[in-house]
Amino acid sequence: MGEFVAVGTVSDFAEGMMKEVKAGDKGVLVVRSGGGFYAVAARCSHMGGRLAQGRLEGTVVTCPLHGSRFDVTDGHVVRWLKGSGALSAIGKAMKGPRGLAVYAVKVDGDKVMVEV
Ligand code: FES
Repeated sequence: MGEFVAVGTVSDFAEGMMKEVKAGDKGVLVVRSGGGFYAVAARCSHMGGRLAQGRLEGTVVTCPLHGSRFDVTDGHVVRWLKGSGALSAIGKAMKGPRGLAVYAVKVDGDKVMVEV
């Protein structure tokens, strides 16, 4: 079991927004959506795309590099790589779907804490 590290205050994270933070030595993507907080690895499990630069819809984040989509509630892959052509098929064959690491989040007073 890890330790909870403060990554900001509640007001640092607007509803419907995501933000990359440092928690210990880990890069973590913190998402506030539907009143809840979620934390997953900040880098895409495909080739390290910076997820904070992607798009967030509800609890699903889309990687800005090749369009993989992940649900931040549990890190599972919603879509692995964008597109259906030959290039996409080769990419999928070379590296199969892998979810994101998920971190526990809690709000303690005004602080948002992530377990690392
Ligand atoms: S790096 Fe994210 S889909 Fe390729």
